[in-house]
Amino acid sequence: MKDDGVNEGRRRVLTALTSVVGAAGAVGAAVPFVGSWNPSARAKAAGAPVSFNIAKLEPGQMATVEWRGKPVFIVRRTQEALKSLQDVQGSLRDPDSEKSSQPEYTRNSHRAIKEEFLVILGLCTHLGCAPTYRPDVGAEDLGGDSWLGGFFCRCHGSKFDLAGRVLQGVPAPINLEVPPYMYLSDDVIRIGEDQEA
Ligand code: FES
Repeated sequence: MKDDGVNEGRRRVLTALTSVVGAAGAVGAAVPFVGSWNPSARAKAAGAPVSFNIAKLEPGQMATVEWRGKPVFIVRRTQEALKSLQDVQGSLRDPDSEKSSQPEYTRNSHRAIKEEFLVILGLCTHLGCAPTYRPDVGAEDLGGDSWLGGFFCRCHGSKFDLAGRVLQGVPAPINLEVPPYMYLSDDVIRIGEDQEA
């Protein structure tokens, strides 16, 4: 098996990294990301954990990894993105993730083990469409100045912040789910397995 140097070669990175579009004003630069999501039958059947080398990600970039036939989004958040998690707090339906699904070790303000890296299931909690990564602050089609970056589900218009927390007034009832994961080293995470397993 070809080894791209990212990990042991078992995991499948299904799409290329997105471009860096975290800066304010980069309106329209975000490219729809998982519109052609189509996991392989072999991967669907496999429930094994997958590893990913996060050192490959630049600030603002997102990668998608397949785990149990589902897309897992891995985002390296910028400092501006981390700040936005505070600024958006008053617009969220479940800001403290009390009704949402995540491992206990990620039930914090950034919903992650290390605040810089978000690891989240890329399935809308309304009816399961794949949301699009939209870090472009101020995007006109998402509310202009009120949009601080996050994820947008085109199916019925649900919006989530950069921690996957759902905004008020949209169909999705709860935040995007955080899967179990752990750090194997500073650079490598393992999805589908944690210290509590
Ligand atoms: S499936 Fe996402 S808004 Fe309905």
